[in-house]
Amino acid sequence: MSNNLLKGKRGIIFGALDSNSIAWITAERVFEEGGTFVLTNAPVAMRMGQINELAKKTNATVIPADATSIEDLENLITKSMEILGGKLDFVLHSIGMSINVRKGKSYTDQNYDWTHKGLDVSAMSFHRVMQTLYKNDAMNEWGSIVALSYMAAQRVFPDYNDMADNKAFLESVARSFGYFFGKDKNVRVNTISQSPTPTTAGKGVKGFDGFIKYADKMSPLGNATAMDCANYTITLFSDLTKRVTLQNLYNDGGFSNMGVSDSIMDMIENS
Ligand SMILES: NC(=O)c1ccc[n+]([C@@H]2O[C@H](COP(=O)([O-])OP(=O)(O)OC[C@H]3O[C@@H](n4cnc5c(N)ncnc54)[C@H](O)[C@@H]3O)[C@@H](O)[C@H]2O)c1
Repeated sequence: MSNNLLKGKRGIIFGALDSNSIAWITAERVFEEGGTFVLTNAPVAMRMGQINELAKKTNATVIPADATSIEDLENLITKSMEILGGKLDFVLHSIGMSINVRKGKSYTDQNYDWTHKGLDVSAMSFHRVMQTLYKNDAMNEWGSIVALSYMAAQRVFPDYNDMADNKAFLESVARSFGYFFGKDKNVRVNTISQSPTPTTAGKGVKGFDGFIKYADKMSPLGNATAMDCANYTITLFSDLTKRVTLQNLYNDGGFSNMGVSDSIMDMIENS
């Protein structure tokens, strides 16, 4: 269903790896709402080739960019403005990666080279993207920038490992850069803190199956799906949320304000 909420708006969507990716589903929804965009991902992710399918469906151009490379980001942003015919109205940062998580290193036994890489890819990349947009004056007034986060930035989820620290950094960058983007360019910057979602990045976290079921049973509305996240992002890209900025917004079925639920109590009492 389309309400043309993004008609005439242009943007960049980072992080569509496959059809489960939150960015993939968001791109489909942005297209339905009338937005035009460039799709981007790390060159290594392009080799899988699936992004071209999405590009075809959504009339998008694909420009590879490693989010840890300023050179790649400069090229991406300049070319995107040329292709789309002007400055940008929205940007989605949907990027996350931890080698410690991937290789099963525990939080108490990190390989710091990997920790550093994960921070660079998952969090500092958001600063880098925004700094490149800012310096190139690439955002239209009243534009909107969104990154995706997780509640482990505030609360302990032991197996989320160093990604918890990366998300805390990411959310802080949203506030700090959001101040300058708001004051100087009338652009808003927010993070969405999303429920566990079965994607490549999500399923890479140890114990994900238990994790996602637990969150679902704790949340009065159940877990937010990737489609719910895409829809929330559409509202943040639209003109309906013009003065929402510097926020970390929970899209989690109510999980973040729960102590315990009947469903979890039943499980414990009957175990
Ligand atoms: N899946 C979940 O449970 C969940 C929950 C909350 C937040 N998030 C966040 O949502 C975002 C999207 O993840 P997803 O769940 O859709 O998984 P995903 O694996 O589909 O997406 C992660 C993306 O990051 C990209 N990426 C990795 N290194 C990169 C680099 N150097 N440069 C550019 N891109 C790079 C990957 O290629 C991939 O497309 C991430 O920030 C993730 O942390 C996910």
